[in-house]
Amino acid sequence: LDNGLMRTPPMGWLAWERFRCDIDCTDDPKNCISEDLFIDMADRLSEDGWRELGYVYVNIDDCWSSKQRDEKGRLQADPKRFPGGIPKLSRYLHDRGLKLGIYGDMGTLTCGGYPGTPLDKIEIDAQTFADWEVDMFKFDGCYSNETVQEKGYPLMSKALNATGRPIGYSCSWPAYQGGLPPKVNYTQLGEICNLWRNYGDIQDSWGSVVSIVDWFFDNQEVLIPAAGPGRWNDPDMLIIGDFALSMDQSRSQMALWAIMAAPLFMSNDLRTISSGARSILQNKMVISINQDPLGIQGRRILKEKSNIQVFWRPLSDGASALVFFSRRSDMPYRYKTSLKKLNYTTGSYKVYDVFTDKTTTLKDSTDFVVSVNPSGVVMWHVSAPAKLNQRHFDRRGNAM
Ligand code: GLA
Repeated sequence: LDNGLMRTPPMGWLAWERFRCDIDCTDDPKNCISEDLFIDMADRLSEDGWRELGYVYVNIDDCWSSKQRDEKGRLQADPKRFPGGIPKLSRYLHDRGLKLGIYGDMGTLTCGGYPGTPLDKIEIDAQTFADWEVDMFKFDGCYSNETVQEKGYPLMSKALNATGRPIGYSCSWPAYQGGLPPKVNYTQLGEICNLWRNYGDIQDSWGSVVSIVDWFFDNQEVLIPAAGPGRWNDPDMLIIGDFALSMDQSRSQMALWAIMAAPLFMSNDLRTISSGARSILQNKMVISINQDPLGIQGRRILKEKSNIQVFWRPLSDGASALVFFSRRSDMPYRYKTSLKKLNYTTGSYKVYDVFTDKTTTLKDSTDFVVSVNPSGVVMWHVSAPAKLNQRHFDRRGNAM
């Protein structure tokens, strides 16, 4: 969507995967969906180095609202759990250089059973979000149907635009259409939404991450052209820092989300996150690969019989990223290849291993070995090639 927003994939924190619909603030005050939770996360983002890296959105998901609209027909936050209302939160975030996201659903009810935004409520709800100074809106599709969605998703895009407030627009539409053409029209999505969920919900398990990765790369020929500045495929939240992933699997999710030019929304508890998970999520080179200004979504270029898969993403200034991903479950696998075998042109390349911080120089024709841990990755940033056999000249122009 050409609203000037999200020219690189949006980054931040989203409540859903980790905190779901926990509304029990009496017995579970630290984890329930309440203004305290979002304030805690905002404090962590601004005090623990996240904001400076680009993690600026703090997004409310389902179960935030009261079960009733107010006397003027507007959505309202649950008064017990959000005593200051949403405007208090947006002020709190904006004061800290952060942005607020909120959630709604096109159907009669949200997926969690809270009031939905049927067609005749789209304008009033868009206006309410703008009045609250919300910066991003996720529009889910539970309890609606194809005809309603076909009208509702474009209508909400117009309504948000008509408020005059820049609001990033996340559409769950394709996830409700099976994610693929001919049902899904990715050209239209790119015109009306900034990002969209294509596929099922991520859960806190490695199996869930792998099924998402497989679906996105199995369908890459359809998905890659859909993505670009202002319009992103969304494979769902990062679960790094939660309970299921090992450190290797965490690096794999981070690396592959960067290759996919995916939105980076963490859903974890930033108050208690381990230093290992934090350092993966705060890896500057991986973030800069994810945020590359060209915004070209990367691809899987090889699926080896050895169960090593290779991914590649073109970056600006002739650079690129490579990921070697092991789908094995035995021991570190020594994968032997060369840049030439990976379609790199003749030249000498500076190669930076993003997780070990080591730089090497490789000629395209030189065989090398990467050791890839089970369910882990090796990720490289490869600089533009220095031409081989090029004659070098001194300052006077004489050949050296
Ligand atoms: C759907 C969405 C999730 C989350 C829940 C909330 O399942 O796909 O991301 O928003 O609804 O109920």
